[in-house]
Amino acid sequence: MAQRESWATRTGFILAAVGSAVGLGNIWRFPFATADGGGAAFLVMYLAFIALIGFPAILAEFVIGRKAERNPVGALVAYGGNAWKYVGGIFVLIGVVLLSYYSVIAGWFIRYFLEGFRGSYASHLTSYNGDAQAMFFDISFGMESVILHTVFMALTIGIVALGIRQGIELAVKVMVPALIVLLVGLAVWAFTLEGAGAGYSYYLSPEVGAITANWTELLPAAAGQAFFTLSLGMGVMITYASYLREDRNLAKDGVTIIGFDTGIAFLAGLVVFPVFFAGDIQPDEGGPLTIFVGMTEAFANITGGQILGLVFFGTVVIGALSSAISLLEVVTSYAIDEKGIERWKAATGVGVLIYLIGLPVTYDIIFLEVYDGFIDAVLLVFGALMVMVLVGWVAPKAAVDELEKGIGDLGTTAQAWVWAIRVPIIIVLVVSLYLGIVEYLDVLEAFSEWLSGN
Ligand code: PFF
Repeated sequence: MAQRESWATRTGFILAAVGSAVGLGNIWRFPFATADGGGAAFLVMYLAFIALIGFPAILAEFVIGRKAERNPVGALVAYGGNAWKYVGGIFVLIGVVLLSYYSVIAGWFIRYFLEGFRGSYASHLTSYNGDAQAMFFDISFGMESVILHTVFMALTIGIVALGIRQGIELAVKVMVPALIVLLVGLAVWAFTLEGAGAGYSYYLSPEVGAITANWTELLPAAAGQAFFTLSLGMGVMITYASYLREDRNLAKDGVTIIGFDTGIAFLAGLVVFPVFFAGDIQPDEGGPLTIFVGMTEAFANITGGQILGLVFFGTVVIGALSSAISLLEVVTSYAIDEKGIERWKAATGVGVLIYLIGLPVTYDIIFLEVYDGFIDAVLLVFGALMVMVLVGWVAPKAAVDELEKGIGDLGTTAQAWVWAIRVPIIIVLVVSLYLGIVEYLDVLEAFSEWLSGN
């Protein structure tokens, strides 16, 4: 068998992991999750979750992947025994479903980006009598959406088919720096807008009362958002760490990756909220439509909105692509390692399957809620919980040994990591999962009503 691929450079791995973490989760999902959760109250809960649970969790995925040098299914089995192949199977399934709708949303961003070339956002809105929501529904479903979903999946498949070094590593080296530069530029511009102050205060001044009163909603929302944005709970970080040959300091890498991801989500908030408030737009009404509707209205009202809009929507497409390749890589690596299929065939085969599963989302937005709710509130939390059980209870010694490679003897710090996982983190995840399932039942009810009305 050919030697397994690996990253060419140290930064290649970091950039790929940052590229995976930073995506629609930061720019499309984070603002509306924050707005749904009441602004700053959500932000506090989310940041606490990232630091206290996201960090131990990313380390757990790293050690599993680096030690096993395999895809998530093979890696979980290597760590925990044969029964873990079912959990690994669920991870692969999560990747398939997540990418299927992720690609459709990315297609919508491509569409909004292209609109910027065809004329000003103000002129586009005029053809819908100024109704940005009507515009969204008109251009985001149906044939055009299918075509853009096809384009986005084709790009993703193309990069993954080229392999780790020639495909993923090369792509993220261009995409990640570009994304950061563009977003910083947009945040500086947003700062200059009249009315930006109200956006900052909505976003940044939490009321303690709002956090304690709403914790049953905030906790699962923060959990889902944290895992989604850090690409945890389905084996992306296991897979990416499996291509590490050298024993690096994984704790340091984890801090770097989380720092970038959180910084970029935060930055996205510094763009979106001032823009909303400057444009007199309520941030908490649109759910998944928020960005499309709100930003289009704002770009229609602001001088230079055409260029800025084009840059904004284009930036999101870059972020989405560097995340999508990580999702496809999980499933592709499974097909390569476990089924012995050639890389390009594996990437194309699973890519086409994923493409088909995404098609319903191009038809009606209800499918987006059904898919995204299931992934976010239920499956990613479940996946992260399984990783924690594995590292905390099934094979803690192997995990600590692996973590210490590249760092040195961690002594009680390593014990603290294991114990934090064993009890408090697992309890929080079980509670989040329960609350998430309860919430998801509402989505399913709405779906069954939709079905009976159609
Ligand atoms: N982290 C990506 C984002 O924030 O858009 C999405 C994602 C990628 C989630 C990979 C999960 C994953 F495994």
